[in-house]
Amino acid sequence: MKKLTSLLSAIAVITILFAIESCSKSSTVKPTVKATLYDSLGGSVMVSDPASPGKTIEKGRLGIRSVIDSTIFVIAGDTRINGHFTVLLGEVTKGNLSGFTELSDNLTTFVAVATGAKDYKYDGLSMTDAHNPATNSRMNGKASSADFDAFVDDLVKGANKVGLPSNLLGSVGKIVVSLKAQVVQK
Ligand code: HEM
Repeated sequence: MKKLTSLLSAIAVITILFAIESCSKSSTVKPTVKATLYDSLGGSVMVSDPASPGKTIEKGRLGIRSVIDSTIFVIAGDTRINGHFTVLLGEVTKGNLSGFTELSDNLTTFVAVATGAKDYKYDGLSMTDAHNPATNSRMNGKASSADFDAFVDDLVKGANKVGLPSNLLGSVGKIVVSLKAQVVQK
């Protein structure tokens, strides 16, 4: 009887030790949420939007938008490729910024989603359709490989103008280069 009591006590002690061990393990296990490039670009924390007083915007989206807008300005002055943007430039020259605003918004959402943003959905044209004059009348002529390289060059200039750190520019650049076959259609 004494033996049975000590056996039962030993089992009880072992059970308690196991319970404590598994409890302490479960409290130290952290969910593994991988940081995305979008997080490095600022992520989903809300900040005030300098372009719309009183409104807020995700910090990542704001950073991407400033790179995009800066790049559009560089492209507008680049005679190597600005001939593709005649519709847009014609509107802007007349003071009509609607096409610019839409392009800025679509490009920003495209890059935000491509870098891992969760709160936006890109609903613009596919990269193939956006760069085919037959499906996008705003695209003046198909882009060549040299046009693409000039675009990347302008993106680097645009990003540097707003101070995007070079490691982040490198990561965004990899995504852009991966799309070359869809954009270059001649
Ligand atoms: C990987 C690089 C590129 C990306 C990610 C990109 C992305 C985009 C996106 C998201 C749009 C808007 C589509 C829509 O409105 O639904 C667009 C439009 C356009 N893209 Fe690209 N693009 C790239 C390279 C180029 C190049 C190399 C050229 C020509 C040199 C070009 C010329 C245009 C033009 C002319 C438009 C129409 C602009 C407008 O709405 O007025 N893109 N692009």
